[in-house]
Amino acid sequence: MKEPTSRRAFFRNAGLASLGAMAAGKMSAAETKAPDAKILGEAGVSTAERSKGVWTPVSDRKIRTGIAGFGVCQFGAAFGFQNHPNVEVVAVSDLLPERCAGLAKACRCDKTYPSLEEMVKDDTIEAVFVATDAPSHARHCIEALKHGKHVATAVPAVFGSMEDAEALLQAVRSSGRKYMMFETSCFHADLHAMRQIYSARGFGKLVYAEGEYYHYMGEPIPSYKDWRVGLPPQFYPTHSNAYYVGVTGGGFTEVSCMGIPSAVRHLQSANNRYRNPFGTEIALFRTSEGGMARMAVSWDTPGYDGEMGRVRGQRGSFYGKYQGLEKNLPGLSVPPLPPTVAPGGHGGSHGQLMNEFVTAILEDRQPLVDVAWALNMSVAGIVAHQSALKDGELLKIPQFKA
Ligand SMILES: NC(=O)c1ccc[n+]([C@@H]2O[C@H](COP(=O)([O-])OP(=O)(O)OC[C@H]3O[C@@H](n4cnc5c(N)ncnc54)[C@H](O)[C@@H]3O)[C@@H](O)[C@H]2O)c1
Repeated sequence: MKEPTSRRAFFRNAGLASLGAMAAGKMSAAETKAPDAKILGEAGVSTAERSKGVWTPVSDRKIRTGIAGFGVCQFGAAFGFQNHPNVEVVAVSDLLPERCAGLAKACRCDKTYPSLEEMVKDDTIEAVFVATDAPSHARHCIEALKHGKHVATAVPAVFGSMEDAEALLQAVRSSGRKYMMFETSCFHADLHAMRQIYSARGFGKLVYAEGEYYHYMGEPIPSYKDWRVGLPPQFYPTHSNAYYVGVTGGGFTEVSCMGIPSAVRHLQSANNRYRNPFGTEIALFRTSEGGMARMAVSWDTPGYDGEMGRVRGQRGSFYGKYQGLEKNLPGLSVPPLPPTVAPGGHGGSHGQLMNEFVTAILEDRQPLVDVAWALNMSVAGIVAHQSALKDGELLKIPQFKA
């Protein structure tokens, strides 16, 4: 089921944040131009209606925040930290000076550092958003946690490394700080509704879940040190796996995954550093509830793209809407945002993820996508890729708890 894209809502929401910035006199209309669907995929630019509810602040404190990474997706500025009333973006960083300057401008921030490693030494910074290249996330998050920062990261939590998963878990535990992965599917309107219904036992146990991340990359998107060239599909599994982990809070215990040798050049094993022969990997997982989940990631099949999913449970199913036995459903709409924060891209998830991270710090509670969810989504894909390389051999997946 493709997420509906309302052009009117898109322009209204996109307008809100950029108008605020332009009113502050720091950005021109041209500079607000965001990466388009060629880079982010169609799902990446889709947004959603604002929640009708009224946002109530939980504190008047401002969290001093640093942001690293303004790459091809310009993700450092995309989640709206700079527009949240409880945030002051006090420093930004990108290794490339012109990107660093672009991020500073987009976040209306004067202080820049030449690297994340330098930025996290700044004792006045309380929280850091890691929007750097995917292979660096674990290392950068661990570095920030070691310096006592709360950390939000773009997906995935770890990139192809089980050792990094264990190291990240230990770093989060020993830091006592908040860690959250900004998995955008988790605040798609449909996934949010599924999570509410699941909590209210409207599905019962999930018997079957399915999720897809389809994003055609006939030519790889030009990324930092070419990390997207030949990218194993299941190294990037969180958008699809969220349609189970982000609904239930559970994980996957074992997997059989299959691929087909890709017809796309950079996705052939001789042509990439990962020795990866696949452009599509289809994983069948056993879930922690004992059910099944089919999670697909595909880069080499042009056409309909998106990040989407559905669930079927013992008491009901969700295919765009709930159908089932539960008559007393909870509220299903996403929480209200501060008026200055736009829902943003990826189905209106950007503002929600950022607001959830900020609120979790202010309320001193676990954020929604904590380290356990992040690793249960990310690591399952690493094992799935190993299974695909072994022609679908059934492999065990470790379980993570916060
Ligand atoms: N839907 C989603 O959740 C979604 C969509 C797009 C991208 N992403 C993720 O967002 C992240 C950024 O994506 P991108 O395509 O812009 O990446 P990219 O590879 O184009 O850019 C990464 C940037 O990080 C900078 N960087 C690397 N190391 C650094 C350091 N030590 N200090 C400061 N800056 C450093 C690089 O200079 C570069 O500009 C990626 O991890 C990607 O996986 C997620």
